[in-house]
Amino acid sequence: FKLPNARNEENLHYAVSSPERAQLDEALRALRSKLPLHVPLYVSGMSRSTTQSLTSTMPSEHAQEFAKSSAASVEDVQNAIRSALEAKKSWQKTPFVDRATIFLKAAELVAGKYRYDLVAATMLGQGKNAWQAEIDAAAELADFFRFNVSYAEEVYNKQPTLNAPGNFGRTDWRPLEGFVYAVSPFNFTAIGGNLVSGPAIMGNVVLWKPSPTGVYASWLVYQILLEAGLPPNVIQFLPGDAELITKAVYEHKEFSALNFTGSSDVFRSLYGKAAEGVVSKKYRDMPRMVGETSGKNFHLIHSSADISNAVKHTVRAAFEYSGQKCSACSRVYIPESRTQDFLEQIKKEMEPVKVGPPEDYQNFLGPVIHKGAFDKIVKIIDKANGDSRLQNIFGGSYDGSRGHYIEPSLYVANTLDHELFDQEIFGPVLVAYIYPDDEFEQVMARIDTQGGGFALTGAIFANDRAVLRQAEDTLRYSAGNFYLNCKTTGAVIGHQSFGGSRSSGTNDKAGSANVLMRFTSPRTLKEEM
Ligand code: ALA
Repeated sequence: FKLPNARNEENLHYAVSSPERAQLDEALRALRSKLPLHVPLYVSGMSRSTTQSLTSTMPSEHAQEFAKSSAASVEDVQNAIRSALEAKKSWQKTPFVDRATIFLKAAELVAGKYRYDLVAATMLGQGKNAWQAEIDAAAELADFFRFNVSYAEEVYNKQPTLNAPGNFGRTDWRPLEGFVYAVSPFNFTAIGGNLVSGPAIMGNVVLWKPSPTGVYASWLVYQILLEAGLPPNVIQFLPGDAELITKAVYEHKEFSALNFTGSSDVFRSLYGKAAEGVVSKKYRDMPRMVGETSGKNFHLIHSSADISNAVKHTVRAAFEYSGQKCSACSRVYIPESRTQDFLEQIKKEMEPVKVGPPEDYQNFLGPVIHKGAFDKIVKIIDKANGDSRLQNIFGGSYDGSRGHYIEPSLYVANTLDHELFDQEIFGPVLVAYIYPDDEFEQVMARIDTQGGGFALTGAIFANDRAVLRQAEDTLRYSAGNFYLNCKTTGAVIGHQSFGGSRSSGTNDKAGSANVLMRFTSPRTLKEEM
């Protein structure tokens, strides 16, 4: 059999007076009327609320509680593992076409029945504006479900091409023998869906620990999977204290893989703890570590670049979703001869930009996710404002009185040795360096070595074809996703697989067959006549 080819879900545009805007407004109203939302655990086929809970507030309005989620205990984790492993016996034998159908159905539910609920939840809970929430919680989520089915099919079809006469070879793409632990971030509702659906499509069972600040949208995703027919024990939903849950998961002999998206520091620590278990022979397997983490992503502008294009792309890459995409651009290198042009145009482009609640369609930037993030970014901005090595071009202010709002900010540094070229901020703060045109090669060399050791995304803007080629070669390991004349954000499933190396993760590429293979333990079979 051959399943239908995956297709990308088209984005809705939410134009003024459009029916989709009316439907989204209705979903937002309905969601607001239910605040705070209660999110249970879903363990051993049952949802359960606990007395222990975690509270998240609306980033755009921090006096408003958004969700109270139950918190898993050690016993919940143990039960979840037990029932997941039990479910695995039949799930791994379920024919692929049946497993695939569940995820294809889930994609239809995302794109149809639950689209506005998902977008509204991502707007209010995670502070995205309508368009940013749409490309994430509607389009990308549906794409992950559809394309992972196609990528799984690609994996299963990888079979030996050569057989000696009388020999018959096969590859049995077994799921991992134990269970997968998936830890998802707040910044993309779609990523949680991908971290759990990828391994599950390959016949694995998964324990899902969602981010406390994205927990309600994750809960919707989970319910959609159940409605699409996923046997409840295949994925266990375990919100709660990260440390407690991880400790309980890591105690179990059948821990076979970590599927993680979040900060580099947390991933390093999870990697290290798993390694300790490997050394002490705690696990039956050598667990697979799959991580997509942070970045300090760059735009390099060459003197031959179309400056108006470079400016538009830089604004979007640096400031969309307040710079809270791991792919966001946070350092830009501008040639001296084009600096005036670049800075004038970027200031002009930024003048009409509005910051405020995501429900107001005029706002390009919403809040940052929580007080911890706000305080950290404010500290960086305060320090930058008093730093004689930096010139503030725009922004540099913030207002935390109602929500966690930070003005998009651009600083030009008079030295490449400034720490802002290395420090991950995860907020709307961009640092620029103006280089003498004839030092292009030296600047490229520095771009590669600075950036905090990260290598997630990067972009070169040039009209000179030889320069594009040169940058592609020189910056070969500086980014896992490298863009030519376009921004560092917005990889589309099926078009650009996504991930970086060095401190940015294991570069297994979300949105590819490659990452799905990491959740298999292939068996080679040879039969002779
Ligand atoms: N995959 C997301 C992007 O490319 C993070 O922006």
